Amino acid sequence: MSSTQDLQKIIAGRRAAEFVQDDMVVGIGSGSTIAHVITALGERVANENLKIVGVPTSEKTRRNAAKLGIPMYNVDDVDKIDLTIDGADQVADDFSAIKGGGAALLWEKIVAFNSRENIWVIDQTKRVPKLEQYLPVEVIPYGSEQLFKRFTADGFHPTWRLDQNGNPVRTDSANFLIDLHLPVIEDPRALGEELIGMVGVVEHGLFTDVVNQIVIGHENNVEIIKA
Ligand code: A5P
Repeated sequence: MSSTQDLQKIIAGRRAAEFVQDDMVVGIGSGSTIAHVITALGERVANENLKIVGVPTSEKTRRNAAKLGIPMYNVDDVDKIDLTIDGADQVADDFSAIKGGGAALLWEKIVAFNSRENIWVIDQTKRVPKLEQYLPVEVIPYGSEQLFKRFTADGFHPTWRLDQNGNPVRTDSANFLIDLHLPVIEDPRALGEELIGMVGVVEHGLFTDVVNQIVIGHENNVEIIKA
């Protein structure tokens, strides 16, 4: 990643953290952009005595936020999440997104759909007219080889998500990830429905009809778009 892109993540992440107010239950996303949101929230908790409760979208986020003094609760331990701030891998002009590059898509979707408001924080490279990046799909390990064969037969060009040792990546829910390599996704809702209808698929990385605002880091400024 270029240092320009990293700078865009930093300024966008810090700006997004300003949306958080006292007494909020905050869904906290995962990934390198959200790391800057967590840092900024930690500073606000320490310096402004900001009083919030966090709900994590991954175990890594839970650990990192807790280390900075943010009390962390599970999604089932809170009544409702006021605001969730998360990253994305790509965001299209119709405000659909691909998420899951960091393997956290299942918890991210659960937290997002239990949140009153959702903000995505991205750098400008992630803005695209239509989604056209590999699509993560979380699958139950049992029967996943069969599902992989079906994805192949359906022309989805699947690959296993592997760790550095060549073993399947395990999500925080102990599932596997299969990445689909598709051409431009013309109809994310229809594809999402097709995938979720397949036995063994737990969730997919297509997020539609969920975001309220996007915070985009550019070279010298932050752009905020309402969906
Ligand atoms: C995690 O599974 C993803 O959905 C992340 O939100 C996404 O990959 C963005 O990550 P970066 O901020 O590291 O690009």
